[in-house]
Amino acid sequence: MWDKIHETVDYIKNKINFIPEYGVILGSGLGSFTEDIDIKFTIPYSEIPNFPVSTVQGHQGALVFGNIGAKKIVAMQGRFHYYEGYDMKQVTFPVRVMKYLGVDKLVVSNASGGVNSNYKVGSIVILKDIINMMPEHPLRGKNDDRLGPRFVNMSEPFSKKMIQKANTIANQAGIEVHEGVYLGLQGPTFETLSEYRMVSKLGGDCVGMSTVPEVIVARHMNVETFGISVITDMGNEESIETITHEEVLEAAQNAEPHVRKIIKELILQY
Ligand code: HPA
Repeated sequence: MWDKIHETVDYIKNKINFIPEYGVILGSGLGSFTEDIDIKFTIPYSEIPNFPVSTVQGHQGALVFGNIGAKKIVAMQGRFHYYEGYDMKQVTFPVRVMKYLGVDKLVVSNASGGVNSNYKVGSIVILKDIINMMPEHPLRGKNDDRLGPRFVNMSEPFSKKMIQKANTIANQAGIEVHEGVYLGLQGPTFETLSEYRMVSKLGGDCVGMSTVPEVIVARHMNVETFGISVITDMGNEESIETITHEEVLEAAQNAEPHVRKIIKELILQY
C-alpha cells in the first residue's frame, strides 16, 4: 500500500504544484461547497492512478484543489462507500493520499438519520464521537508502521479544539448546532425501526453509511479531524415510512448554506 500511495501522490504532485494543508470530504447534498473554493486544479478520479473506479454510471468524482482565503485545501467531490462494493482499503485510500500530499487537518461531512429526539430533519450535528459497527475494519491486516501505529488511540476521533471553534462560529452566526455521536452501518438499506432503536440504545445520536472508516484512517495517520452531519430523516415511527434518497438530498440541500458557512469559517480560522 505504501508504494501505491506514493505512486498516486507523485502523479498528483507532478501534475500540479500545490501543497494542501486541509482535506475536505463532501457528503451527500453538500457538493456546492466547491463554490467557496478558489479552484486552482480539478483532477477527475478516473485520471488518478490507483484510485477506486466508480461503480456508478455518470458518477463524476474529482479531487478539487484550491484556496479558501490563505488556506490551501483539497476537497473530495464524491466519496467511496463500502456498500458500493469497495473494500475498506479502497474506501479510505484517498485519505491516505491526502495525508501524503500534505494534509494534516481533515473535515468530513455527511447526511445521516437522526435517532436523538432533540433532532429534526435539517438539524446540524457536530460530531463528537463515532461508533464503528461496519463489518470490515480499514486497519485489519499487517500494519505498516510508516503509516501509523498498530493500535490506534481513539480517545479523540474528532478534535476537541476544532469542535470548540466550530461551536463558536455557529453561535456567532446564529446557526443552531447539536453535538452528537455518529454510528456507522454498512447500508445500503436505510434502517428498520428496530435498527434505529438499536442505534439509539447503543449510544448513537445519528446513523449513516460513511465517515467511520475515513476517520479511523485519518486518526491512524494522526490527521486532526472534524466531522459534521446533516440530519436528513428521523428514525422514528412518525417519519420512517417516508424516507427516500430524494428526501435525504433535499433536506441536506436546505441545511447546506449553514454547513458551508461553518466549514468555511473553521478552515479560515483554525
Ligand atoms: N440511515 C443511514 N444512512 C443515512 C440515513 C439513515 O437514516 N439518512 C441519510 N443517510
